[in-house]
Amino acid sequence: MSENEAGLPGVDPRVPNPARIYNYFLGGKDNFAADRAAAEAVLAMAPEVRVAARENREFLVRAVDYLTRGVGIRQFVDIGAGIPAERPVHEVAQAVDPDARVAYVDNDTIVLSHARALLDRGRGTAVVGGDVREPEAILEAPELAGLIDVGRPVAVILIAVLHFVPDSDDPAALVRRLADRLPSGSHVVITHLSDGGVPDDPRIAATRELYRGGLHFRPRKEIEALFDGLELVEPGLVGVGEWRRAGAGGTSWWLAGVARKA
Ligand SMILES: C[S@@+](CC[C@H](N)C(=O)[O-])C[C@H]1O[C@@H](n2cnc3c(N)ncnc32)[C@H](O)[C@@H]1O
Repeated sequence: MSENEAGLPGVDPRVPNPARIYNYFLGGKDNFAADRAAAEAVLAMAPEVRVAARENREFLVRAVDYLTRGVGIRQFVDIGAGIPAERPVHEVAQAVDPDARVAYVDNDTIVLSHARALLDRGRGTAVVGGDVREPEAILEAPELAGLIDVGRPVAVILIAVLHFVPDSDDPAALVRRLADRLPSGSHVVITHLSDGGVPDDPRIAATRELYRGGLHFRPRKEIEALFDGLELVEPGLVGVGEWRRAGAGGTSWWLAGVARKA
């Protein structure tokens, strides 16, 4: 991460940041010392988190491939897209259809700066500054509207982002507000940190602390409720490493599901 980026408005390199911590878990270089220290503290408690982050990315690839090849979706809105990582959504979708379109949305300055620098806007992608807590503003943003036709089916991707949304912002209602504005045949893809049925696990409390309280592990029931009003496709809500994968297994940090709007 360069000194120039440390000076971007809204960027404080001394404060660990979720997008940059995640980048470190994935083996990326777009992070500062404070992010690495926070990430290492999590890894000291739970070394499998590095694997869990990778499982999440692998799920993303399987889900986008399923939606593009299996369902025929050609438009994606990836909210909480993160610092560009290996095999971003447009690469996976455009491997099936070069005309597939992807809007990458995030509320983080560094993510947006990297995404704008790295993504080829000439090839069916757009980068949109937006907050998942303001779904209507995302779908109406001019950069998105210029690329995505919300009158045709869209897949909204919410991978590893809704656990940053507190109960007071009602994450299930946010998903509903997104789905309500999209036509039948649209899909929603979600992964969410699970409390694994052990909300008192000291690793959960310690990790939450490292994220300054801004990270919400939820019980399965509440993660299921994110899909209310939608039809979960097979195999339903499962561990992220188990979703449509041969030789399923993996860590228990994330639950994952893909659902269709009827
Ligand atoms: C753990 S990363 C996940 C990145 C990516 N989805 C992936 O799976 O590789 C979470 C991302 O969500 C973004 N984020 C957090 N809160 C957000 C919000 N309220 N609105 C939009 N993006 C948000 C962060 O900036 C970060 O880039």
